[in-house]
Amino acid sequence: MTNTLFVGKVYSTFDELTSTNDYALELLAGTTSGAAKSKPSEGTVIRTDRQTAGRGQFGSRWESESGANLTLSVILYPVWLPVHRQFGLSMAVALAVCDALEQALPEHRDALKIKWPNDIYLNNGKAGGILIQNALSGAMLQSSVVGIGLNVNQTAFDPTLPNPTSLLNFSGKKYDLDLLAENLFVSLERRYLHLKNGGAADICSEYTARLFRLGLETMFMNNATNEPFSGIIRGVADDGKLMIESNAKITAFDLKEIRLMIEVLADD
Ligand code: BTN
Repeated sequence: MTNTLFVGKVYSTFDELTSTNDYALELLAGTTSGAAKSKPSEGTVIRTDRQTAGRGQFGSRWESESGANLTLSVILYPVWLPVHRQFGLSMAVALAVCDALEQALPEHRDALKIKWPNDIYLNNGKAGGILIQNALSGAMLQSSVVGIGLNVNQTAFDPTLPNPTSLLNFSGKKYDLDLLAENLFVSLERRYLHLKNGGAADICSEYTARLFRLGLETMFMNNATNEPFSGIIRGVADDGKLMIESNAKITAFDLKEIRLMIEVLADD
């Protein structure tokens, strides 16, 4: 039984779906065939062993070996969160994933990082991704589908992916997916309620402390000019922009403007 107030109280598991995010969006729209037409309760979790069309950020695909990993989505109603503060939810979710991974990898706490905006890293490898799809109502959020993909017991990855890893590849240990999911529900609920109850500033500082490459010289690509540049990540702004120091000046960049060049990272 899930040890939470609402996250995972409704917990639907499937052998196969196209995408848990798509299924959750259909539930919200009331268009899922065979499912109840009433509004899904807050904290409803959709989890599947296999996605046939798993989705990543920026229209990419999320590939995950059947039965080896966590692929799930959680329906939330952050109606109290103004649109211009929506990055708070993204930070809270990334921290919640780190909390759950910390329990699984207690001796590797310091290897766990968040690559801006919300990729989950173990040292220089990507172990998880988050895809949050928000619906808005005026200046406030109305609903969020929080999709989480975690590479857990998978050992071989598509060679075209830049730097994938899994918990098993990282630690040499296999993990119980059900237990990991339950721990994730607890941490997600805790971080979400903290955000709701005035914890945005704490969340932002914890998130900043966990940022991948914080304070380190790093190469970025300026997407507009196609020019690489070197800079130092100094933190994030309230709206989620990444603050990068370059040539003694700090500039805030949004998601579309830059990308971190993971392929040129030195082993430092
Ligand atoms: C990324 O890093 O690009 C985000 C990946 C998000 C993947 C998860 S898996 C569960 C949920 N359903 C999807 O189709 N995508 C998210």
